[in-house]
Formats: sequence, structure tokens, C-alpha cells
Amino acid sequence: MLGTEDFIREAEESISQKIPAPGKAVIACSGGVDSMVTAALASKAIGSRLLAVYVDNGLMRKGEDEEVEAMLKHMGINYRIVKAGPEFFDALENVEEPEHKRKIIGEKFIRVFEREAKEFGATFLLQGTIAPDWIESGDGIRDTIKSHHNVGGLPKDLGMTLVEPLRDLYKDEVRDVARALGVEASERQPFPGPALAIRCLGEVTPEKIAIVREACYIVEDEIMKSVKDGKDVRPWQYFAVLLPSKSVGVQGDRRAYGYTVAVRAVDSVDGMTATFSKLSISVLNKISVRITDTMKNQVNRVVYDITSKPPATIEWE
Ligand code: XMP
Repeated sequence: MLGTEDFIREAEESISQKIPAPGKAVIACSGGVDSMVTAALASKAIGSRLLAVYVDNGLMRKGEDEEVEAMLKHMGINYRIVKAGPEFFDALENVEEPEHKRKIIGEKFIRVFEREAKEFGATFLLQGTIAPDWIESGDGIRDTIKSHHNVGGLPKDLGMTLVEPLRDLYKDEVRDVARALGVEASERQPFPGPALAIRCLGEVTPEKIAIVREACYIVEDEIMKSVKDGKDVRPWQYFAVLLPSKSVGVQGDRRAYGYTVAVRAVDSVDGMTATFSKLSISVLNKISVRITDTMKNQVNRVVYDITSKPPATIEWE
């Protein structure tokens, strides 16, 4: 890669050339560092000819909708929030297979953008695709590990020209660019495009999403507290996964039958390989007690994932 400053200059020039005036573009902003950096670069390059769209798909983390809107406001870019939760849940009804879920979510996203783009008069679609996204989505010679939704879900009849300024960058390089641009999302941990849908194994329902959302919040909160107290080192990524099967537990003196939550925390540089984080027993204990206390009637078991990538992947789907 070029030096960060050179990359920023060249990326801006290239975006201006690819989207000449009076051309307009839309970008899907999820709040993650990739899309926020792409939006920041594009906003510098084409100003108000850019519209950032945040889709409230009902699958985001606790407080995320508000947090992302605040970031967009602060960046001073043209943005719009689209509420589409019920549309996503309807499309995911009875769907269990991970690749199928990803394709459906990717397709829904694109259709929402097409609608917004049409209204805005945009003929260009900016995406924050980075190198691991297309490498792992298969490019003809490679096997598809996972279809990252911003790659695998693109329909053949997409009526817009795709512009992907970060295509050759890895996550750590994107963070350097984010820091140089003063993008607030620079230190946010990665969050997948299909959001909590791929952290809820099997069929996605609003009830199951509510469980995994709370569990993810607890994992993030407890780990950050422990990091602040100097008891743990902040992992590269850390979250919870809701497993689809139930197991037997005991509540008071009664038999309980509830879900299992898996806690996942990994250390990595670029997400291509990863090792599981050696979290302290004290933080794991706090996470376990808090999850089972908060969701007494739903979750009765918490396990810690001790696999690296490979052979596992970071997300469970
Ligand atoms: P895996 O699970 O493939 O994840 O080891 C590697 C990194 O990519 C993130 N991830 C995604 N990001 N769209 C994205 O934008 C996706 O579909 C997707 N799937 C996984 C994952 O969270 C991890 O940081």
C-alpha cells in the first residue's frame, strides 16, 4: 500500500474522476470503519453529490442506530436513515442456512439502496469493500468461504456503477486511514454486514435477535470494563452468538430448558487468521453470571469458544 496520506490523496482523486459532476452517488453506512472511511473520502471528493444511507434493519447492536446517526451528523455529510426492520425479518422467515441468509440480506440491502438512489438521482454506488471481503467471497479461482454481503449479494441487474475505493486495503490499513481522516469509527471493532442475523444460528426471529443483542452488549461492556481496569487486553473482536438448540439447566429447584450463548473473542491483525483471546477467568465469570441473570428465562448456559481461525472462522456463520 501507498503511505496513508498518499492513499487518501489518490483515493479522493480517483473518486472525483469516477463520479464526475453532476453525477450523484449513494453509500450504505453501517457505522463500521470501512463504510465510514469510504463515506469520508467520498464526501471530500464529491461533497453534496453524495448521500449516505443507514439502514435500520432491526439487526444492529444495542444503541447502534443512535450512535451511527450521531457519527454521520458529526461528519457533516448528507445522510438519510431508512427504517426497514420488518422488511428484513419477513424476508428471513424460515431461512436457516447461513449462505442463504447472507444472500437474502445482501439482496434486501441493495433493493433499499436502489430505492434511495432513485429518489436521490444517483447512478453510482460506493461500497467499503476491503480485500478480505472479496478474497473470502471467492473470485473464480478461490473457494467461497463466506459471501460477504457487500460482495455476494450484488444482483446482476444492479442499475448503478460500483465504486470501491478500499478494495486493496486490509483492516489495519483502513484504521490508519480513518485515524488520519479523524473518522470517529477508527477504533470500532469489526461488525459484519449481515449484522446479528449471522450471530443467531439457524432461523432469525425478533425474539432471538433481542437475546443475542443483549448478550453482545454484555460481552462488550464487561470486556471493556475489564480492559479499563487493566485486567484484560482489548481483543480485536468480541461478541456473543446464540446457538439454535436448547439444553437442560436448573433454576431454583426446577428443571429449566434454555438456550446456550457462546462467547467469542479473538486477536487478529486483518481478520484473515485469528487466535482466540486468553481472557481472564474473572471477566468470563462476570459475563456468564450477567447473561444468565439478565435472561433467566431464556439462557441457561454460556460457553467460551477456544478455537482459532483456521480451522474455525471468526463468526459462527
Ligand atoms: P470470518 O467469520 O469470515 O470473519 O472469519 C472475518 C471478519 O469479517 C467479518 N465478516 C463480515 N464482514 N460482511 C462484512 O462486512 C460479512 O458478510 C462478513 N462476514 C464476516 C467478521 O466479523 C470478521 O471481522
